[in-house]
Amino acid sequence: MKLTIRGKKKIQGTIKISGSKNSALAIIASSIITNEEVIIRNVPEIDDVLNQIKILEEHGYTIYFQNNILKIKPKKHINYRFVSESISKLRGSYYFMGAMLAKSKKIKIKQIGGCNLGDRPINYHLEALKKLNVKIKEKDDCLYLKTSSLKGNTIKLPFPSVGATINALIASTKAKGITIIENAALEPEVSDVGNFLISMGACIEGLSTKTIKVTGVDYLHYTDYYLASDRIEAGTYLLLASTKDSDKITLENVQPYYLKSLIDVLKEAGSDISIGEHSITIKGNSHLKPLNIEIGPYPAFPTDLGPIISVIATQIEGESTIKETIYKNRTSHINELKKAHANITLSLDTIYIKGKTKLNGTIFQSYDLRQSAAMVLTSILASGTSIIENAEILFRGYEKPIEKLKQLGINITLINE
Ligand code: EPU
Repeated sequence: MKLTIRGKKKIQGTIKISGSKNSALAIIASSIITNEEVIIRNVPEIDDVLNQIKILEEHGYTIYFQNNILKIKPKKHINYRFVSESISKLRGSYYFMGAMLAKSKKIKIKQIGGCNLGDRPINYHLEALKKLNVKIKEKDDCLYLKTSSLKGNTIKLPFPSVGATINALIASTKAKGITIIENAALEPEVSDVGNFLISMGACIEGLSTKTIKVTGVDYLHYTDYYLASDRIEAGTYLLLASTKDSDKITLENVQPYYLKSLIDVLKEAGSDISIGEHSITIKGNSHLKPLNIEIGPYPAFPTDLGPIISVIATQIEGESTIKETIYKNRTSHINELKKAHANITLSLDTIYIKGKTKLNGTIFQSYDLRQSAAMVLTSILASGTSIIENAEILFRGYEKPIEKLKQLGINITLINE
């Protein structure tokens, strides 16, 4: 799949932000714990979600998914082998570990996939699950996890990993006794999953804090849950709208508080942003001040917006710096930006960008989801026509990107090959 984008058009309008990809992936997996129907609303129709749903279908689930409403019909017993191709296609499939242990006390699962961001181990997940009385064996390219009975315990995470916090949270909902997760991740997706589990009858205290307490329950029941919106999708469009080619752009269906670190950075750089209860309006500004960003776990600046804000920095007079502390290998946008003549260099964990640069449209490659989005922004800001190859990666995490960008006045075409 290829995208062609004709840059430099003035953009304006309103777009509705979709439901959160990373919440959806965990919530869909954890919905298998209950033996009653689950309804999830505001579910984004993106490839990673479709893949997570496919995993359920492969296990005999009946699914209804239309207009962002997902209904999962219950199944009491399911095959414990999660070994299909779909498992290794996305990283969010690791949430079936916690969910299956809570449902059926065992799972065999194939090695996990996901975006190509270098070495991405799951040792924190496995150590956390071991604390809950799970025995783990590795054979060929599969993990075997088994418990006689999940038992509550204190889990101290060495790093506030989003995935490990959520997996421990899911599994401990049905563990006997009390589980304390220390050094838990504060990302809003953790609270979203926690609130979903609470809506099914789980007993969880301390969400959005570093210490989460879960008191195990015997049964999780029916729920009808509305997902939080995707703060990274919102951040992507907000950054696009911060540039000089944009007029007034409004994002709807957002939780502005979850974007505080980005909004603070943009305001400090001189952006004109107004915040509503569930909306953000921004006016493009061609005289932003240089950025000085340190990426880190929430509430710090999100790693997923690192490649995207790098593009914006090319349009700012002076030197901007972006220090990445989570994924040291999240650098694939650098060479692609150089192709458009950006002045961008990497030294240790910090990216240095000197602007303003007149970006030139060219042929870009997509390597991972957020880098692919960064290339879309580059193409929109560049003069001439750009082509983005392997553009299917974008559809893993952005719902209807072509429609939304066209709505803003962007000249973009998808070529299916
Ligand atoms: N880490 C370990 N061992 C582990 C788990 C993590 O060493 O067992 C390391 C990672 O290698 C990384 C750091 O800890 O250096 C943080 O990883 P974390 O576990 O927090 O990330 P994740 O759960 O694998 C989720 C999102 C990512 C997002 C990160 C950080 C999902 C499916 N993925 O990944 O989203 O970048 O949190 O916020 O929820 C994306 O949406 O494009 C994406 C990559």
